[in-house]
Amino acid sequence: MTKKVTVSTIKKYKSDNEKFSVLTAYDCYTAKYLDEAGIDIVLIGDSLAMVALGYNNTNSVGIEEMGIFTKAVARGVTRAFVVTDMPFLSYHTSVEDAVKNCGQMIRYGANGVKIEGGSDYIVSVIERLTAVGIPVMGHLGFTPQFLNQLGGYKIQGKTKEAADEILNQAKKLEKAGVFSIVLEMVPEESAKYITENLTVPTISCGAGRYCDAQVLVSDDVFGKYPEFKPKFARKYGNMGELIYNCAKQYNDDVKSGKFPDDSEVF
Ligand code: KIV
Repeated sequence: MTKKVTVSTIKKYKSDNEKFSVLTAYDCYTAKYLDEAGIDIVLIGDSLAMVALGYNNTNSVGIEEMGIFTKAVARGVTRAFVVTDMPFLSYHTSVEDAVKNCGQMIRYGANGVKIEGGSDYIVSVIERLTAVGIPVMGHLGFTPQFLNQLGGYKIQGKTKEAADEILNQAKKLEKAGVFSIVLEMVPEESAKYITENLTVPTISCGAGRYCDAQVLVSDDVFGKYPEFKPKFARKYGNMGELIYNCAKQYNDDVKSGKFPDDSEVF
């Protein structure tokens, strides 16, 4: 029987200098495949707003929807650590609301939550969540929930001062108790500097090779999301084409009378 990945496993990856993998999933059987493939953390990303629900940005998804996808993914996973990405406004109104909403995701089967930002308020949320036993993954650099404030998909931490500012926030998150920190769209040099100055593992989302782990959106990896392909996302397959070809063949077979055949009828 394979051992469940826990916060201790993730900490040990960092101390042993061993890389680990994170991928998003939004449904039970995709999550099961990822788990069987050895992915260490399965993230129910709020990216599902775009890749599964067809919205223009991640801020359109709510806590109810994240709950449905969390339950589905948790049912598919045995070994990986399951993290729910807390959606916009689900932890911003008060520390109490944050505990209630994050706690609900744990009830639905998540092992931890991810929240974005490094302000003093976010630090106080992390302190309370970890105090009640909810593991927290931080998220710094480009933080999609701040898209309107950041003015677009812009690389963060480009100068030494900007990298120091992210490191400063990361250290506060570390002190507050996060078990890992996603660094999104940060230059490789800056991410290396930040990673080397932290004891918690960093997870690169377009932050280069020197982070302790890598995360991608699975629909990008599988070649399923056609709208936009970030420079840092590597496509390992063409699921969009596979789905199209299967649907087209089925359509042709139904219309030409080739489906069903003798073996497919009672
Ligand atoms: O929403 C998401 O999928 C994410 C990861 C890509 C880090 O936040």
